[in-house]
Amino acid sequence: MEFRGKLEGYAELVNRSLREETAADNGIVSEAMRYSLLSGGKRTRACLALAVCEMLGGDMQSALLAADAIEMVHCYSLIHDDMPCMDNDDYRRGQLSCHRKFGEATAMLAGDALLTLAFRTLARIGDAEMSRRCAELLSDAAGFEGMILGQELDLRGVDEDGDISVQLDRINENKTGRMITVSLLMGAVCSGTGSGKTYEALERYGRGIGLVFQIVDDVLDVTSSLEELGKKTGSDEANNKQTYCSVYGAEGAMRRAEEITSQCVKALEDIDGSGFLEWYANDLLHRSR
Ligand code: IPE
Ligand code: IPE
Ligand code: MG
Ligand code: MG
Ligand code: MG
Repeated sequence: MEFRGKLEGYAELVNRSLREETAADNGIVSEAMRYSLLSGGKRTRACLALAVCEMLGGDMQSALLAADAIEMVHCYSLIHDDMPCMDNDDYRRGQLSCHRKFGEATAMLAGDALLTLAFRTLARIGDAEMSRRCAELLSDAAGFEGMILGQELDLRGVDEDGDISVQLDRINENKTGRMITVSLLMGAVCSGTGSGKTYEALERYGRGIGLVFQIVDDVLDVTSSLEELGKKTGSDEANNKQTYCSVYGAEGAMRRAEEITSQCVKALEDIDGSGFLEWYANDLLHRSR
């Protein structure tokens, strides 16, 4: 299919670029960094950034640097997420998780190094204002009011006396949705074009697919397998985590994900050339890994 080929092309582009960005080999931390960063991964966030930039007719070179930076931050978050102090998971992307392969101290440093390298990578974007804006957006989305807040809320868990679905949305929006939305916005920034209305539409779409992405992740944690998913299933239950899937069942959770998807793609209606993004929202809804 035409869109599937486009997606694979984006992922290939970012894989090659990430390899080049991390080629310097100077010790065990750099080895651990490459072990986790270059071990597959769907490159969803990178592909979203590249797709938006291309849709808006921008220069793909800047968007590729932005996409690399986003994948570095995402990978750091996974390395730390798997550590015993967080989800305590032994497998990631079909191989031992970073701390299980290299030990906790090295894994922690590999995560830190990827986070740092991400902002160095954004500094290489040629247009100074584009570079500054990307750094600002990524820092906000990944930081203590974004993804890190989401991880904090996830670890704290839901308050059974409060509205569970409101709390789950808040966790999911922050720990996962913010990085997905910012990928779209950084793609737009790197295109050097895009009206306020385009940004608003991308934000609405991103908020929707971000929530759906985490709902599907939670469902797959129950319905899939290590072989298919590349990470051990049953992790949420083992950590006593409430998710959409544990609260409403896999079917109930997927119904909600379908509703959100069909709503959020409507935001794209007025954007020319948004066919890929609409297709991708549905592809992510039905993903099996
Ligand atoms: C896993 O993200 C963590 C979540 C935010 C749900 P992905 O499912 O994008 O993981 P990779 O990058 O493909 O390994
Ligand atoms: C991870 O959520 C979110 C981030 C890493 C920010 P999960 O803990 O559900 O992700 P997986 O299932 O380990 O990939
Ligand atoms: Mg987690
Ligand atoms: Mg986890
Ligand atoms: Mg999960």
